[in-house]
Amino acid sequence: MTKTAARSITILGATGSIGASALDVIARHRQRYRVFAVTAQSNVNDLADIAAKFDADVAVIGDPTLERSLRDALRARGAKTRAHAGRDALVAAAQAPECDTVLAAIVGSAGLEPTLAAAAAGKRLLLANKESIVCAGALLMAAVERGGGTLLPVDSEHNAIHQCLAGVSKSERDGARLILTASGGPFLKRDDLDGVTPDEACAHPKWVMGRKISVDSATLMNKGLEVIEASWLFGIPPDRIDIVIHPQSVIHSMVEFGDGSVLAQMGTPDMRTPLAYALAWPERIASGARRLDFANAGPLTFETPDRRQFRCLDYAYASLRRGGAASVVLNAANEIAVQAFLQERLRFTDIAPTIEQMLGSFDPPAPNDIDDVLMIDREARVRARELIVEKVP
Ligand SMILES: NC(=O)c1ccc[n+]([C@@H]2O[C@H](COP(=O)([O-])OP(=O)(O)OC[C@H]3O[C@@H](n4cnc5c(N)ncnc54)[C@H](OP(=O)(O)O)[C@@H]3O)[C@@H](O)[C@H]2O)c1
Repeated sequence: MTKTAARSITILGATGSIGASALDVIARHRQRYRVFAVTAQSNVNDLADIAAKFDADVAVIGDPTLERSLRDALRARGAKTRAHAGRDALVAAAQAPECDTVLAAIVGSAGLEPTLAAAAAGKRLLLANKESIVCAGALLMAAVERGGGTLLPVDSEHNAIHQCLAGVSKSERDGARLILTASGGPFLKRDDLDGVTPDEACAHPKWVMGRKISVDSATLMNKGLEVIEASWLFGIPPDRIDIVIHPQSVIHSMVEFGDGSVLAQMGTPDMRTPLAYALAWPERIASGARRLDFANAGPLTFETPDRRQFRCLDYAYASLRRGGAASVVLNAANEIAVQAFLQERLRFTDIAPTIEQMLGSFDPPAPNDIDDVLMIDREARVRARELIVEKVP
């Protein structure tokens, strides 16, 4: 690829775990990728370090009170990067004409607006922020269609399915069954989860991730969100999406076809592999991930998830089937409950009941546009906070 053909990228959530993995891949291919913009919420120093290292044109800090700090930090590093702050600046970075590719790696529904803006602007959208497709699946898919861009999943399971579906006709895909693998998280074999601490919940046996998604993995809500994500991404209904626990995290997901064939995508558990795939698709580039060593991989095992202990799975399926605003409520309740757990204001075992209570007590009409989604999200958060205050006197 020549220098003029280099892709120009905005990384939303550059200071996070996904942001770091993506920058690691990009650093291996500097002639192919130019970093246009990088964003964070409050981590000024890391953002300025990244902007200086990758010579970014723009750095955006989500917290508007930190604009001056960001400017000072960039100046201290001798970076020529322009500093901006606030929600509008995040959206502007996502739809800027100077970039052709956007990595959506903000955590939570905070990623919704910039992700949708990138889709509407026809960007090549590398989607890690699963919460945006969970909350606004129909709107996001329509925005991608209208914008004329390409949506490439970064989540390792959906990235695996994307790879398994390459070259598959629409009719074969319509009859396919998706099998999402789940590591089972840190509590697969643990019965008493009452006294679990945030650090225990974040100690994932296979993947190194941000704290929110680590807790989601421990409750299996991460897999529930992924079922909703898969349904929107691949147009497959919930009754043809299965989950299988596969603690070794070697198979990242599978597709079963009408003739009984099952295709699986495998690799070591390293997010740089799906990121490299999404960055270079339809080509392949080196990711830096360790190679799979079959002779020493040990046995690969599979089991059915324990839905009585990990009830978030059923709530996610139920909200996908119910449609309308249910997934927005599910996601908001989960984000507030996980935040309260990480702040040690809620027990681990109260996360699922909080979500169940929210789904049973708040059933707003289906959203028509992004403003409706944001309004329902805000209202659900207020109600979830009230519930949690009631639980912890
Ligand atoms: N980590 C993984 O392996 C993995 C795998 C698959 C999918 N995902 C998905 O990828 C997304 C990112 O996950 P992560 O693990 O990388 O999260 P993370 O490490 O917590 O990083 C989150 C990033 O989002 C920024 N951010 C946080 N709140 C924000 C807000 N309100 N507005 C704007 N930016 C905000 C953070 O900035 P600050 O640093 O300033 O807080 C940081 O850059 C999540 O949706 C997750 O589900 C992650």
